Amino acid sequence: MPEKTYAPLSDLSTPPALSLARKTVTVLFFLAISLALWWSYDVVSVGSTPARVYTYVPASASAQEILRRCNSFNARPDPSVLASLGPKRTISDRYDPGKQNMSYLITNATIFTGMKNEDGSVKIITGSDLLMTNGLIRAIGRDVPRDLLSVIDSRKLSVIRANGSWVTPGLVDVNSQLGVFSSPPLRASNDFDSKKGPILPWLRSIDGLHTRDNNFELAMAAGTTSAQILPGSSNSIGGEAFVVKLRRTAEGSAVSMIVDPPHGLNSTRGKGLDQEEPMRWRHLMQSCSEKTRRYGNRMDMMWSLRSAYHEARLVMQAQDAFCAKAETGIWDDSRAQVPDDFQWDLLLDVLRGKVKVTSDCSEAIDLDNMIRLSNEFGFPLDIFLHASEAYLVPALVNGSDAGTPAIALLSTGYHHSRESYRGSEFAPAILASRNFSVIMTTDGLIVNSRQLIDEARKAYHFGLSEDLALASVTSAPAKALGLGYRIGVLEEGYDADVVMWDSHPLQLGASPVHVWIDGMRQIPLIKESGRSTYSSGTISGVEESVDPDETRQNAPGQPSYEKETRETLNWDGLPPLMGLPEESRVVFRNVKEVWKKGRDKIEESFLADKETLGTVIVENGKITCVGTSEDCALVPSNERTVDIDLQGGSISPGLLTFGSPVGLEEIDSESSTSDGDLLDALSVNIPNIFNDVGGMIRAFDALVFDTRHARMAYRFGVTTATSSLSKPHQLYKNDDRMIWGLSTTFRTAASHVLEPGATIQTDTALHVRITRPRFDLNGPPAVSVSSQLAALRRLLYGWESRDTDTGLWFRKAAEGVIPLIVEVESADIMASLILLRHEVDGKIGGQMRMVFIGATESWLLAKEIGQARIGVILTSLKPVATKWDERRILPGPPLTNQTALGMLLDAGVSVGIGVQHPQAVMETRFQLSQVLHEIGASLSPREVYGLATTNLEKILGVKGIEPESADLVAFAGGSAFNLSSKVVAVISPQRGLVDLL
Ligand SMILES: *[C@@H]1O[C@H](CO)[C@@H](O)[C@H](O)[C@H]1NC(C)=O
Repeated sequence: MPEKTYAPLSDLSTPPALSLARKTVTVLFFLAISLALWWSYDVVSVGSTPARVYTYVPASASAQEILRRCNSFNARPDPSVLASLGPKRTISDRYDPGKQNMSYLITNATIFTGMKNEDGSVKIITGSDLLMTNGLIRAIGRDVPRDLLSVIDSRKLSVIRANGSWVTPGLVDVNSQLGVFSSPPLRASNDFDSKKGPILPWLRSIDGLHTRDNNFELAMAAGTTSAQILPGSSNSIGGEAFVVKLRRTAEGSAVSMIVDPPHGLNSTRGKGLDQEEPMRWRHLMQSCSEKTRRYGNRMDMMWSLRSAYHEARLVMQAQDAFCAKAETGIWDDSRAQVPDDFQWDLLLDVLRGKVKVTSDCSEAIDLDNMIRLSNEFGFPLDIFLHASEAYLVPALVNGSDAGTPAIALLSTGYHHSRESYRGSEFAPAILASRNFSVIMTTDGLIVNSRQLIDEARKAYHFGLSEDLALASVTSAPAKALGLGYRIGVLEEGYDADVVMWDSHPLQLGASPVHVWIDGMRQIPLIKESGRSTYSSGTISGVEESVDPDETRQNAPGQPSYEKETRETLNWDGLPPLMGLPEESRVVFRNVKEVWKKGRDKIEESFLADKETLGTVIVENGKITCVGTSEDCALVPSNERTVDIDLQGGSISPGLLTFGSPVGLEEIDSESSTSDGDLLDALSVNIPNIFNDVGGMIRAFDALVFDTRHARMAYRFGVTTATSSLSKPHQLYKNDDRMIWGLSTTFRTAASHVLEPGATIQTDTALHVRITRPRFDLNGPPAVSVSSQLAALRRLLYGWESRDTDTGLWFRKAAEGVIPLIVEVESADIMASLILLRHEVDGKIGGQMRMVFIGATESWLLAKEIGQARIGVILTSLKPVATKWDERRILPGPPLTNQTALGMLLDAGVSVGIGVQHPQAVMETRFQLSQVLHEIGASLSPREVYGLATTNLEKILGVKGIEPESADLVAFAGGSAFNLSSKVVAVISPQRGLVDLL
């Protein structure tokens, strides 16, 4: 064995348990044992039918075996061999139907195949059939060969008449923590990132994958069928990732979920020696994200990465030198051992081109660092994840010697960290125009696993083409993961991972009706054995029919954001986002609909009849005429007039947002840009200088204007915000407290607090949070719920002097002078709060205005909450349980007919919708649209609009948005509910102008 020379590794990159010396000894010991045992065995049945059998050969053996091993070093997964597998297959290696063994024939569907036509467009077949048997797509097209059908027992064939419904490949998520961040999360099931060091290529996500994660079902119900499970992005090298299918297998193991188990997954030697099966790709997760800063700065990170790759390269060079000798027949037979190092196994495969590498790198500096690393060591970069600045430096990203990586992104949700600060909603379209492969992803707790298709929808709204938007969650991720030969497209011989939708998949609120994985139907879920968390009834029989929503079978129209896209590029990602104030006369033409604010609801003030669209005249920010073009004919004059064509658009009141700290911080992850830490009265003594046990604070004192979040909110029609100092919980931070002080209401367009009209209500409501301890608690023990409730009771009873702010404001809340907004998720805690409210009302004789925000489990108490006249503000319309307190979610379609929102409304509860993160405020209009389609006919569009305007105001006690002075938002090309529309202007009577956006 040749001498190994190890470069000194920094402490950072050495696993604590394994010193270098010990590691070398361990490896040698292992080699010796393996030599002595001369082992050879057949193993690994992967639990599918038919079983896969791999044969492994010992590392060191006869000359012949050494040569075979040497050969295997250079064997790589061969895309052309893999590609030829598809059409040949007649039964899937993953098919394990048990007794069911059904075939499915979908007839008369509109199929997005994901395959390319000769002209480069994506093949879409209308009026098409699709036959699934044995886990595969057996036939697709206008007529399925009769002989294929005739061999199928008719009792084993289920026919689904699609009546034109859209059918797509199952969605593929490259950025998933399903299973490793299992839901509901508990301390003992949190396996998604290791704190043992920055370089951990020996970790494998599959070893921490919980197959009972409730989110698997939720993600499948949202159309996702495969996901790359990443082992954490807080390490420079997080470990080996695995691409799994989300269905529960008969075996129930994590390994049986892997799409293509790499050879030798469960052996320590002899990888790649399989003779029968073509070699499969492995997957690596590495990161240069901000989260790795817990191990040092960028220079530290790059050194830890370089030293790790250097180590692996030394081993590779030793292997190559050894093999070069072996191949010429020169070696000392009796002592011959192939050099190896178990610890660097995965990186060796990376260097040998056998691994699809995902790198979580955002800023240009990080992309550059990673590309230089890749060029230095000669390994591929397949996916740049969260590459928020890639669109600004395309030439740089093209500069990897090993080819251009695909770019995986979120559509929106930027500006919350330095690395996402220059991110843009236009990035997917810009990158696509530069021929990058664009992948849309989810993002852990912020954009949960149910929202993948929503990311594609928004990317489409902001300019990505229909084809590419659908490809960005199907074929593009499948291809980047090396699995494009079996998933991500619909074609004969491919895995039968299929989704049938109730509307065009890019329509907001469109939902899967049926989902198949490996030709086995997963959605609707049938509750057979109590294994599934959510059941949704029974399958009707062998003949089924789907009733698509005829009005939503086409992709929505796409507004033009050309100007905004150009500006974004010109300003290097930070366009000023300011409007152009217009104080003269503005005439809006081709207006379809005008809504205005009434006292407590949205009123219609104009609706164009079918033929003729209307005209709205605005002078000094005030509407002076609404009607037909004759009604509002302009008297010719010298006055300057700005003409705006709304193209059938609408004018409606500006939206209100609540729930996030918008307006109180610039960049969430940079404490120097925020208000700072708050004192928690339940765990520290409030300093004497307050002379106030509760340490009451006012968000008004912390307002910062002109933040990017606020400007974005404004540009998307959210003209007013109520913010409190309460912040969303961050993983591993003990940042819960009970008292969050007083919220404030302000205009998102204001430049500073002294500007006239900047604040609408200095003190809006009193905010508390009642929560159980977090599973991820780090630091001092959390204060119990019982203690929190005891403290709240005492404060509401008025036992604190009214000379202090705490005494004063809690007294006001108890008397109902201001609302008490309680952030709470658990139904049990809500029930306790309802009792507490009765007690307090009884004692004080007031009418407390209690409101629950978050309130994931509120649907369980819809009736009681309605009777108690408690308002509810929901902050997630597609929730997943991120803590125990919210584990009982009502998922909504297609798993349940009802949604939490619908149940609350049915019970007569006063409901509003809010958000948790400031970057999500701009999406309020998309949320409303989703509600409109989920709620169906039970709520009129104006009532839905009220959820983020009049209802929310009433619940929060916002009084200052007077109908006469309220901002109005002009949407061109549709209403606030259509993806086809965009905000073009804000009409502001209070400022006496129209802001042209
Ligand atoms: C196929 O679906 C379309 C759209 O719903 C419908 O008009 C047509 O009649 C259907 N064709 C058959 C053969 O069922």
